[in-house]
Amino acid sequence: MPTLIRLFPAPVRTVSLTGLYLGHASTLRPSPTRPRPYVYSNFIMSLDGRIALDHSQTGERLVPEAITNPDDWRLFQELAAQADAIVTSGRYLRQLARGRAQDLPPVSTAAEYRDLIDWRRSHGLAAQPAIVVLSRQLDFPVAQIIGRLGRPLYIATGIEAPPEQLRALETAGAAVLLTGAGRGVCGAALIEVLGTHGFNSICAIGGPGVLSTLLTAGAVDRLYLTHAHRLLGGESFDTLLNGPRLCPPVDFTLSGLHYQEPIGVACGQLFATYDRVQGHRASPPAICG
Ligand SMILES: NC(=O)c1ccc[n+]([C@@H]2O[C@H](COP(=O)([O-])OP(=O)(O)OC[C@H]3O[C@@H](n4cnc5c(N)ncnc54)[C@H](OP(=O)(O)O)[C@@H]3O)[C@@H](O)[C@H]2O)c1
Repeated sequence: MPTLIRLFPAPVRTVSLTGLYLGHASTLRPSPTRPRPYVYSNFIMSLDGRIALDHSQTGERLVPEAITNPDDWRLFQELAAQADAIVTSGRYLRQLARGRAQDLPPVSTAAEYRDLIDWRRSHGLAAQPAIVVLSRQLDFPVAQIIGRLGRPLYIATGIEAPPEQLRALETAGAAVLLTGAGRGVCGAALIEVLGTHGFNSICAIGGPGVLSTLLTAGAVDRLYLTHAHRLLGGESFDTLLNGPRLCPPVDFTLSGLHYQEPIGVACGQLFATYDRVQGHRASPPAICG
């Protein structure tokens, strides 16, 4: 069983990787009386800040194989297992339809994650969290994939979305959430609507656009970052956030740090947990012009 060195908070000690993030349930699943849902997001990134690179053959933007690994995947599954809903991007749904996504959305039904499905059941949750997809383009074959998802699918978009596209999505079995003034989703409206649907714990697994949408709404409470100890380079890449500068910058504070030594794994990695500094929540950051 993989072990980690807990570096923060003190005292330094060895802990098991399995169950590490499942132990965060009292934070990730707050009381239903909380005024708005608790939102957390998770990324793995290289030392030079890459979360995705263009694939050398297909040119498709993907999480680099050089940093993906089963131990990080286990913790990713543990985080998703605690959510009422998972928020992802239209790009993910398109890749899933083409058979190019990393995997079906969590929680994995593979035997090694059975304990997580059991955990959900023992906590009175549905076997799988609902899926919420943010999209402007709305160009995915929902009818083809909704059965494979095996759980409710919500498509969030703006009020200027073409009505015929919305009807097609609903006919295919998705629920549409109109949560933005134009074609895009407004993060604050999205989180409010998800709260009214009874989703109190929301895990964002999309990329930089999804994180930016939620962050600029002041909605992100916690970030889980795995720092893989590798430099990747590359000219065409994604990093954690896109879009204009945030004014003021959004501050997080470290609440947990675990180190995995490069023994029996390709490279070492740090598993960090960052909590949003409370003062920012009242006033979401403006975008610098
Ligand atoms: N290393 C990691 O931990 C990690 C984590 C997540 C993703 N990734 C990788 O990062 C790359 C980029 O991921 P991504 O494409 O999911 O990134 P993203 O920038 O979050 O998502 C892009 C798409 O999401 C939709 N979207 C985002 N914000 C929206 C808004 N406010 N309103 C409406 N639609 C919105 C749009 O979909 P439409 O195009 O349908 O309009 C947009 O094209 C991928 O290669 C992915 O595999 C890596």
